[in-house]
Amino acid sequence: MDRIYCPSPVFELSVTLVAELCELRLALADEVIDESAHHAVLMTVIAAAAAERDRPRSILDFGTGDGRSIPAIRDRFGAASIIGCDMSRPSLRAAYDHEAVLVQIAPHGPLPFADRSFDLVLSVFVFHFAVPAAVLRELARVISTSGRLVCTVYGGAVARHRMAMTLIGYRQTSSTPVPDAVGHWVDVWSPPPRAATAT
Ligand SMILES: C[S@@+](CC[C@H](N)C(=O)[O-])C[C@H]1O[C@@H](n2cnc3c(N)ncnc32)[C@H](O)[C@@H]1O
Repeated sequence: MDRIYCPSPVFELSVTLVAELCELRLALADEVIDESAHHAVLMTVIAAAAAERDRPRSILDFGTGDGRSIPAIRDRFGAASIIGCDMSRPSLRAAYDHEAVLVQIAPHGPLPFADRSFDLVLSVFVFHFAVPAAVLRELARVISTSGRLVCTVYGGAVARHRMAMTLIGYRQTSSTPVPDAVGHWVDVWSPPPRAATAT
């Protein structure tokens, strides 16, 4: 078996079902995670993020799962503080990288982070699910004024995800198809404008 069958489009699943599906994915990781596609997508995210912020001070990996993207993020942005967050405690418990700082969050927010505390929010294989608008607003709150959200999107979820981001006030600054992973895109967003004090 190399696929998990889901009878409805994953963008329409509740957060509870998203968590269950993702926990099943991790339990069957050896069979269902295509390491080469994951690597191709992650490297495209990191390249897009580095093009925006070469030396970020702080990075949030939103929807980190077991934190499997964190070693590569650390390799590229070693000087930054890196936090992974996820709503799924079993996924976090499966920690792939035992040195990573992993934080459990509530699926509808709020996020337990200070305003403007991250230069980069990265998110890998998350936004093909519908992330609640309250969480998209919270992510906007925790990104620094000159920061960026860099995320992957896939297949039929692309248009709906971009619409949700635009409605919150994010501005898309680029979109790159992932070489070697057909249907996957890496989108870069700047946070909604707000009353600027400092970053
Ligand atoms: C397919 S997994 C990807 C995990 C990891 N980024 C990777 O590349 O392997 C999606 C992750 O996003 C998390 N997630 C989805 N919606 C979320 C939400 N609203 N709040 C927090 N985590 C969420 C899930 O629990 C899951 O761990």
